[in-house]
Amino acid sequence: MTGRQDRTCGASSGRPASFPPRLRTPARSDNGVRDGRDVTFAPVLTETHSTTDHAQAMSEKAKIILEGKTYELPVIVGSEGEKAIDISRLREESGYITLDLGYKNTGATTSAITFLDGEEGILHYRGYPIEQLAEKSTFLEVAYLLLHGDLPNKRQMEEFQGNIRYHSLVHEDLKRFFEFFPNNAHPMGILSAMVNSLSTFYPKSQDPHRPMKDRERTIFRLIAKMPTLAAISYKNNLGHPYMYPSNKLSYVDNFLYMMFGLPTEEYHVDPVVSDALNKLLILHADHEQNCSASTVRMVGSSQANLYSAVSAGIAALWGPLHGGANQEVIEMLETIRNDGGDIQKWVNKAKDKNDPFRLFGFGHRVYKNFDPRARIIKKACDDVLGKLGVSDPVLDIAKQLEEIALKDDYFVSRKLYPNVDFYSGIIYRAIGIPTRMFTVMFAMGRLPGWIAQWKEMVENKEPIGRPRQIYTGITKRDYVPMKDRP
Ligand SMILES: CC(C)(COP(=O)(O)OP(=O)(O)OC[C@H]1O[C@@H](n2cnc3c(N)ncnc32)[C@H](O)[C@@H]1OP(=O)(O)O)[C@@H](O)C(=O)NCCC(=O)NCCS
Repeated sequence: MTGRQDRTCGASSGRPASFPPRLRTPARSDNGVRDGRDVTFAPVLTETHSTTDHAQAMSEKAKIILEGKTYELPVIVGSEGEKAIDISRLREESGYITLDLGYKNTGATTSAITFLDGEEGILHYRGYPIEQLAEKSTFLEVAYLLLHGDLPNKRQMEEFQGNIRYHSLVHEDLKRFFEFFPNNAHPMGILSAMVNSLSTFYPKSQDPHRPMKDRERTIFRLIAKMPTLAAISYKNNLGHPYMYPSNKLSYVDNFLYMMFGLPTEEYHVDPVVSDALNKLLILHADHEQNCSASTVRMVGSSQANLYSAVSAGIAALWGPLHGGANQEVIEMLETIRNDGGDIQKWVNKAKDKNDPFRLFGFGHRVYKNFDPRARIIKKACDDVLGKLGVSDPVLDIAKQLEEIALKDDYFVSRKLYPNVDFYSGIIYRAIGIPTRMFTVMFAMGRLPGWIAQWKEMVENKEPIGRPRQIYTGITKRDYVPMKDRP
């Protein structure tokens, strides 16, 4: 089946059931808990078709000779021409496994969600180029696209938005958890814990055998409550009162309102800020089998509930080599500025193998030419700062650093280019997001991608993820009593 046919499958599966759209405003007294008591829930997510059988088997076979015996391995090709050797029967037939630290050459699954060509700098969500989506779409529309396989029509979009608005409150008891974190607690630690805690408020989510339409509510809750939880963690840090979500506002505007609004004053969302955030969230929405998405699929493959799988994804994203790089980039740029702005000195440090320093925001596991998201962000950065009238000296340092590094043979020969995190922090700063919240913003953006990856894994009935290893430790030996040990 071709990619085009595949998208058509997504379109038909995404048709809403004949329920009327529900755009109810939640009652305050409900405390945000809408568990099995929601009887008029309007499902808009239905099962998408399995993707594993969309990979074509080629007539060509790979041959591997081990101990004089030849094994033929099937070769498969994806809808964009990516090729793979299928080794799923290799161990059974030959006793050998393959070894690939960091999975640099290993496909963990077939997937119909995101296509990425690192050499050409191409990124498509369900076939749509990231450039077009960043320019024309909204974050919730992209979330729908990732989850369903196709763009929604007007009615589908209204239903989807309505379902997400409906679940935006969090349980009042959950709010109290925030008070017990230390003052300087990192918001990513809080977010991961809070998302996992949601599973205890919604115990039905722990049943792995619920039909997908019952799991939809978990999906809506997650997408709806993530901005609320992120904003509460920020307010808690400041000692400011929490803002209840406003269901009059769009997803992005509501987040800004909960972050920066106060109960004592009117808050008006600046459309420049709202547009910039919408674009950033779209650019982060999925990135195929990266560290955090693979984590979500891996945890989900044990049939742990979706909240816990996403919580694990948040933890994976937090690392400075992954999403945590956006915080590191700004801190690095500030350090360079505070150190006198000698950029060459820091480039030299990054090249020195005896120095652990790396240029954060540079390099990518799969992009070896340019990161298309970084191009969009760099342009947006100038635009947003110009419109907001913000002049940030850190932006000048970033541009100079990029220029110097891109001419340096160390970076050129290793194909190290600015990645999505290099410029995103500068926009976050300009729109008032504190540095420690940057990776939380990334998590909010990546959430629909994680959920789409999990959903695909469940629908494809993928087996539990369980890699093998080559044991290199001590071979069998007998226990030595304490008195006989040296
Ligand atoms: C993203 C990243 C983890 C990819 O890692 P990877 O694919 O495993 O690549 P490696 O770490 O093996 O790097 C390959 C080579 O480039 C060097 N390198 C990679 N990124 C570098 C960086 N940011 N600064 C300096 N050197 C870097 C490595 O030291 C290595 O050099 P060597 O071949 O001489 O040993 C890595 O480039 C990195 O740490 N970047 C900074 C963190 C970051 O911005 N992460 C966000 C990703 S969106």
